[in-house]
Amino acid sequence: MEEIKRIGLLTSGGDAPGMNAAIRAVTRAAIHRNIEVFGIHRGYQGMIEGDFTRLQSGDVSGIIQLGGTILKTARSKDFMQKKGRQQAYEQLKKSAIDAVIVIGGDGSFTGANIMTKEHELPFIGIPGTIDNDLYGTDYTIGYDTALNTVIYAVDKIRDTASAHNRIFFVEVMGKEAGFLALMSGIACGAEGILIPEVRNQFSKLKKYLAQRSRQRKSSIILVAEGDDEGRAIEVAAKFHQEFPELDIRTTILGHIQRGGPPSVLDRVNASRMGVAAVDALLEDQKCVMIGIVNNNIIHVPLNKTVKLHKEVSKEFLDLIELLK
Ligand code: F6P
Repeated sequence: MEEIKRIGLLTSGGDAPGMNAAIRAVTRAAIHRNIEVFGIHRGYQGMIEGDFTRLQSGDVSGIIQLGGTILKTARSKDFMQKKGRQQAYEQLKKSAIDAVIVIGGDGSFTGANIMTKEHELPFIGIPGTIDNDLYGTDYTIGYDTALNTVIYAVDKIRDTASAHNRIFFVEVMGKEAGFLALMSGIACGAEGILIPEVRNQFSKLKKYLAQRSRQRKSSIILVAEGDDEGRAIEVAAKFHQEFPELDIRTTILGHIQRGGPPSVLDRVNASRMGVAAVDALLEDQKCVMIGIVNNNIIHVPLNKTVKLHKEVSKEFLDLIELLK
């Protein structure tokens, strides 16, 4: 077992509230275990360019409550190329970095997984994405805060929808996954959700909405960005074409879902996962993601998290139908 003396730490892909809490936890846990931490700025792009700075305990003071990421983030096209990964590896070696902890989503872990195959370098992943779409973990950093942001907004939309008996199509994030729409839909009593995992839902929903509207009842439908029927504006236009007499509005929640102070759950779980990532390296783990299942910390091989698909729960889908 090689002794780990210096680690690199980066955030990559879409930012998520709680990433800073994880940066703080990794930094402080590593320092407690006599490991130096180098912050890698701007994700894998910063790794390629050698944009590193040493992080001391004081550098991560006062950040646990902040959304975004103090290390900045990026989606690097260069890192998708072998040449870019070779350059990144050389930069890490030049700074004597023995291992890397990456906080991000499936794109970030795909990069990490390829890099560990090409180069002898331990990589530990911490799941950070508001989409909560990673296989092998019940939870990803930022999901809980984003859910709360969505329901806070939709509760307000509900007031005005109800005052005017309107149908609102509210677009939430989730290009490839509907977990955010599903869970927030249950929490705000949505009359329906449209998500990429369940296809051809719209025709069934249309009849129900038209009928509710004629009974002078308002409705809220959450549309995940990646639904097969299109984005909220397209869905609303299709609906309007068939029922021009009904009063329809569209709201796109957009990037407010990615920002803001992290919730208690995101701060606590990010802290747990950050410490667990450092411990995983000390246990000689080379290529795993830290997950949380049934509220317990687990290790999931990185290749599994990128190859396998997380399924939406039928129980939750049924709840939307039953309780609408
Ligand atoms: O963070 C994940 C995610 O929020 C997706 O749901 C969304 O489609 C995407 O990021 C948008 O990210 P960006 O605007 O940074 O490209």
